[in-house]
Amino acid sequence: MKKNIIKLIDLEKADFEKIFKEASILKGRHKKGIIEKTLTGKTLGLIFDKPSTRTRISFETAMVQLGGVPLFINSAETQMVRNEPIRDMARVLSRYLDCIAIRTFSQDLLEEMARFSSIPIINALTDLYHPCQVLSDILTIIEHKGNYENLKITWLGDGNNVAHSWIEAASVLGLNLVLGCPNGFQPNQNILSQSQKKGTGKITVTSDPKEAVSGADVIYTDVWASMGQENEHNLRKQVFTSFQVNSNLVDMASKDVIIMHCLPAHRGEEITDEVLESSKSVVWDQAENKMHVHKAILNMLINQDKGK
Ligand code: CP
Ligand code: NVA
Repeated sequence: MKKNIIKLIDLEKADFEKIFKEASILKGRHKKGIIEKTLTGKTLGLIFDKPSTRTRISFETAMVQLGGVPLFINSAETQMVRNEPIRDMARVLSRYLDCIAIRTFSQDLLEEMARFSSIPIINALTDLYHPCQVLSDILTIIEHKGNYENLKITWLGDGNNVAHSWIEAASVLGLNLVLGCPNGFQPNQNILSQSQKKGTGKITVTSDPKEAVSGADVIYTDVWASMGQENEHNLRKQVFTSFQVNSNLVDMASKDVIIMHCLPAHRGEEITDEVLESSKSVVWDQAENKMHVHKAILNMLINQDKGK
């Protein structure tokens, strides 16, 4: 198991499998009310430069339920705001904490933090990636479909941070991933070509939303304007109109299609209220699974020296 979760292309298929297995076991134990103590005496620092409901709270509850302590760090109240170098922060915080989860804008900043830390660093979302989200999503697919193989998984909308983590997961796990994105909003070309070359996945991009969803087993969407892109919201609403996940597009997919969204959702934009609230939607399971997957990640990263 790697020391950090920075981006999914760094993981082996066996790492994914280990996380899914551990998360499922922990989920079952949680439902039975079993109290865990694997992280007693351990502290997770959470540095968040962007808003969060699910990721922050599921990491916090995961840590508490494993017997550890989450420490939320508002970077505006640290010396980061007065430009203390990230490499200094990394070395100092490594002396206090056992693990750090960071949500920030720059992937480079997060990677610098990882280079200078002696404790595990978890990417809780950057402008480029959202790896923990996609780990939780694939666990949700396994629960609903039995596996992640031989499925057509369609990403519809913006070629954004979550899409990039999907592309890398597809590369490592050998997924059939079709990304339907408007021209000008397709995924990062370097991430796409590296993932297409490196792995075993079948990863294709189209600007035709109907082609993307045709026969799909999974349709996944996300906001059209991510955090930090609020000033492009009105423009994007016009460009993305035909990529809305609505009943017309869902009818072109497999009859057993599941609908996924990492949330928060903008009903009436990237997805209709009807589809989000339909029996095909698994978005609440996705949100729940973030907590179970975060527990698996924390256990494995923090206790890795114990051979767990
Ligand atoms: N899906 C997700 O990461 O949600 P939050 O922004 O609320 O953490
Ligand atoms: N792409 C979205 C994901 C939110 C969880 C964003 O970055 O805002």
